[in-house]
Amino acid sequence: MDQIEGVFNGSFELVENIKISPFSRAYTFSDSIYEVVPFYNSKAIAFDMHIKRLLRSSNELSIALDIEQVSKEITQLISSCSSENGYVYYQVTRGQDIIRAHIYSKLMDIETFGYVLPFSFKTKTLKVMICEDIRWGRCDIKSTSLLGNVMQMNSAQKQDCDEVIMHKENILTEAGASNLFFVKNGTVCTPGLSKNILPGITRALLIKEIKKMNIPLIEGNFDLTDLSNASSAWLSSSTKGLAPITEIVNLENILDTQEPIYLKCKEAFDYKFFS
Ligand code: PDD
Repeated sequence: MDQIEGVFNGSFELVENIKISPFSRAYTFSDSIYEVVPFYNSKAIAFDMHIKRLLRSSNELSIALDIEQVSKEITQLISSCSSENGYVYYQVTRGQDIIRAHIYSKLMDIETFGYVLPFSFKTKTLKVMICEDIRWGRCDIKSTSLLGNVMQMNSAQKQDCDEVIMHKENILTEAGASNLFFVKNGTVCTPGLSKNILPGITRALLIKEIKKMNIPLIEGNFDLTDLSNASSAWLSSSTKGLAPITEIVNLENILDTQEPIYLKCKEAFDYKFFS
């Protein structure tokens, strides 16, 4: 990969030149939060919503964040990108310990790290696997503690899948790195917000478009039977946009990537954010 532009504790440099202490709490405890901010035609998509969610995540972890500074750094990374389309990854870590300790010192300086990458936002179709949601109880915080997601997505990859759809005791939650939508009996269904799912920005943007088009929508509790009766299903995220699911390997169901409600959502979303 080409050299990657980054920023560490406010200094802009190539990622390969950044040095991080092994006592960084991101490294020892995943004591860190992050955002992925997409941009198209050099303009961030839903910048304020990403910043607001980062602030919420940092407040939940009692990490004091200079959000003005963070906003400036993300904006500068976007302008430094060699491509007009891409995304910024930005991580905030509680700081570095003198020696590893669960209970953190209140005097610690926070550590921030970001980088920018060109990205094409081409729509990809997805093959997915259903699996149990084995993650912790605060998936609404965009924390870097993603081991449950990593384990499930990598076991799905062994079945030649790109993503997972997770459920907790049969109730659908979300995907490994995206939110879930499906159409059942002409209604768009998506799991309601709770501590078990990330409040996706793409999810919120799409819901707004769906409401504008007066397409019936339910945010609520759905189970695997609902999904097996779906006529189309897709995942949403800042990097995937709306990605249609072609196959769920361990659920009997026939999904149509040309289903009219999905196509309407996709067209409206792409027109609004990628044109
Ligand atoms: N993932 N749920 C999970 C678990 C996610 O990791 C993501 C995003 C989403 C969608 O959120 P948004 O629409 O705000 O991108 C839902 C990012 C892209 C990532 O970790 O790379």
